[in-house]
Amino acid sequence: MEQLDPDKLPRHVAIIMDGNGRWAKRRALTRLVGHQKGTESVRDIVRTSRELGIKWLTLYAFSEENWKRPSYEVKALMGLLNRYLKSELKEMMDNGIRLACIGQTEKLPPEVQRTLWQTIEKTEHNTEMTLTLALSYGGRQEIVQAVKKMLEDIEKGTLHVKRITEERLSEYLYTADTPDPDLLIRTSGEYRISNFLLWQVAYTEIFITPTLWPDFRKERYLEALLDYQKRERRFGSTGEQTIHPE
Ligand code: FPP
Repeated sequence: MEQLDPDKLPRHVAIIMDGNGRWAKRRALTRLVGHQKGTESVRDIVRTSRELGIKWLTLYAFSEENWKRPSYEVKALMGLLNRYLKSELKEMMDNGIRLACIGQTEKLPPEVQRTLWQTIEKTEHNTEMTLTLALSYGGRQEIVQAVKKMLEDIEKGTLHVKRITEERLSEYLYTADTPDPDLLIRTSGEYRISNFLLWQVAYTEIFITPTLWPDFRKERYLEALLDYQKRERRFGSTGEQTIHPE
């Protein structure tokens, strides 16, 4: 396999992890087994990202729409998340990984919220990589809450309509302190954004693979990164002016 250029790695990778259900169905297994296998892929991709020196990784772990799934599946996903956070704390501490979350996390079961916030607090001084989990997340909802907060600030007199710019609006999103993703990966072959980071992916390179999430491990990830490195990112300028992220 071709070598990755360490100087041209994306600063921020965002992933829509899809296909756990299909992976299980093809093997006549329950969807829950698919989610368990998917959790192993999460471990592998987090570890690989850290090894490569990627600074920001954002995973779409549970969407706003996922609440509509049967309650036993929601419960199982919450259980997996809770266990994942507990079992990965040591790895996060040993490897300088800071945990963050975006979304309406107040909707999560209290026990999961507790584990989540404890993990966020314990890892807050880690500086090598930020792992952000999108939980009960929806891109449009994120923009709506940003608009509401902006209006509150306008009422308070701390924000002036004339001062509203793209940068200012970005500061009201859940991702305020995070650079926009350079690369968005979606597994299992669907050509959709599914309400993920709508504002933030304006100039993001998109990589869609038919590989189902439980099969998306280091090797497939390296292929996606290699594909990204072959692209020319122009951000609307001409080919001669191509810019690469720091
Ligand atoms: C999509 O598969 C996946 C999800 C619903 C979310 C991803 C969840 C995990 C990988 C497990 C837990 C997460 C963490 C961070 C430990 P799907 O069920 O939509 O698959 P399908 O489209 O084939 O049915």
